[in-house]
Amino acid sequence: MRSDSFGYLGDDEVYLDCACQTLRPEPVIKALNEYYREYNSCGERVKYAWGKKVDTAVEDTRDKVLKFLKLSPRDYFTSFTLNTTYGINLILNQLDPAGIKQVVTTDIEHNSPFLSTIAFARRHGMPRVVLEREPDGSINLANADFDHALVVVNTNSNIDGRALGNAHAVVKAVHKAGGIIVIDAAQSMAHYHKNLEKLEADAICFSAHKMYSASLGVMVVCKSLLERINITFIGGGMVDDVTESEYVLSANSPQHIYTIFEPGLQAWGEIIALGEAIDWLEKAEKKSRVYELSERLHSFLKSQPGVHLTTEAPSTTMAFYHDKIDAHLLAEGLSTEGIMARSGYFCCHHYLNHAMHYPPLLRFSLGHHNTDADIEKAERVLERTFN
Ligand SMILES: Cc1ncc(COP(=O)(O)O)c(C=O)c1O
Repeated sequence: MRSDSFGYLGDDEVYLDCACQTLRPEPVIKALNEYYREYNSCGERVKYAWGKKVDTAVEDTRDKVLKFLKLSPRDYFTSFTLNTTYGINLILNQLDPAGIKQVVTTDIEHNSPFLSTIAFARRHGMPRVVLEREPDGSINLANADFDHALVVVNTNSNIDGRALGNAHAVVKAVHKAGGIIVIDAAQSMAHYHKNLEKLEADAICFSAHKMYSASLGVMVVCKSLLERINITFIGGGMVDDVTESEYVLSANSPQHIYTIFEPGLQAWGEIIALGEAIDWLEKAEKKSRVYELSERLHSFLKSQPGVHLTTEAPSTTMAFYHDKIDAHLLAEGLSTEGIMARSGYFCCHHYLNHAMHYPPLLRFSLGHHNTDADIEKAERVLERTFN
């Protein structure tokens, strides 16, 4: 049975593209609509009642994000931006290179950290090291040199969910070596956020649209990182006073520290919707069968002749190629049956195309909206196509 939260989805629509964007549950859509219909006001500068309501709800979301990750507001703050890519770039483009000797990332990163680390290394004339992740997604600490490194890594891959299972040990090792670590948690927040709890990275970036909320980027930043940030992306909403050639940053006051990464007017409705999504997610995961359904689909694929999965371990996201069927044609064929899946290299060109030499892949990524009927239909259609 489909949850009421996704009642708008037709019975014949099988959405399996949650790694890109999860579907939005009704309570989240309602929260967003309520903002636009009932108190569509700017935050942080408005004295009328609508604006005060926005301020309370936005502050509430900032707190909920930290609680969700079990991080203390004494040490961390939440800023909002456009998406994960913006979050990572806002940090890397404004990070003082003094004290950084090298940039370290890994082979299974999304282009978002992959390209921004290339740009950082080029800009500052530094070496960049691409570590090979272990088959289970962890980093072998015996092979990793984090000496004064800027490290940017994901905690789950968007190819097949491979997890940085030793994330806590990696963060400790980077700090011990005098480095800075920025976590790309885009694929972790919806279904694997437990691995991020109390993870004391310097920053954690993710996208609300991949965790059942409206389109929005989230940055959870350690306050101490600000000592190494040279702000250049700047404008309204960030300053308390301005003279002809000087300004006073609002972030100087502890209660407005988050403004440091929030130039200009923010996506107030989307921020408020994220607060609702976190509440919804905490309830939904208590009764969700997403892990069980994912395992089922993964083991079905494993049993099919001609199918090559990219990893042995099941996850809510899985990718494969077929010996005889082009992935793009397969995705189009599935679409004619109402099954929505992705094909290609999923913004991981280096690893999938150039390191592994895979042909384009097909990716299924499940969410809390999926049902037994969805998986049965996918299996039925795939079996018919493969045989
Ligand atoms: C692991 C990972 N990192 C970063 C991103 C980029 O996210 P966004 O496009 O929301 O910036 C994605 C998007 O799929 C992702 O899966």
